[in-house]
Amino acid sequence: MTASETLAAVRAEAFRLLARGVADRRSAFHTPTLATIGPDGAPQLRTLVLRGFDAASRTLRLHTDRRSAKWAALAAEPRAALQVYDAGAQIQLRLSGRARLHAEDDTADAAWAASRAGSRSCYAVEPGPGMPVPAPPPAPPGDTGGRAHFGVIHLAFDRMEWLHLRRSGHRRAVFAWGPEGLHETWLVP
Ligand SMILES: Cc1cc2nc3c(=O)[nH]c(=O)nc-3n(C[C@H](O)[C@H](O)[C@H](O)COP(=O)(O)O)c2cc1C
Repeated sequence: MTASETLAAVRAEAFRLLARGVADRRSAFHTPTLATIGPDGAPQLRTLVLRGFDAASRTLRLHTDRRSAKWAALAAEPRAALQVYDAGAQIQLRLSGRARLHAEDDTADAAWAASRAGSRSCYAVEPGPGMPVPAPPPAPPGDTGGRAHFGVIHLAFDRMEWLHLRRSGHRRAVFAWGPEGLHETWLVP
């Protein structure tokens, strides 16, 4: 096994891909799938843009509308999971942990201030996302009122599973951060 196939190297590569997903719109890691648990206990999945990643705290930043179903779901049940499949690299990453919601605080203020006008205007839509309407509504002309609907999801993950499909042999590994530190092991793919 070469140095690039150590668990430490896999972990570093996963973190590098997450950081790249924030910066590179063409990266598959830019648009992961977020899973939450609905009020009826059923899983719900949807695509979100990965807005930030802090490797030290293993925290991902996502933005959403506070009127959305996912916001209510996470407020009631913060356990969440996120997955990405990068078809080019043939890497699947599965993360799970807990979400913290930021609505009217410095975290949300900073994220709103850094958002582009086009992104902000999404939050001005009326009525809120998911409401039934007789016809598709026009795009909001600006971001008036949008801040009141804008929220930040911080997903801190404590489990990460890596799967790399390779002709020479698939590689699967799991990393779990607990009170006693990091536990990491290879798994049968
Ligand atoms: C490429 C792509 C990027 C998206 N990015 C976001 C996002 O950053 N935040 C968000 O709330 N919804 C985003 N959406 C829409 C969600 O997938 C979803 O349809 C919407 O948020 C409603 O989800 P919910 O009813 O489960 O709350 C995106 C959809 C696509 C296809």
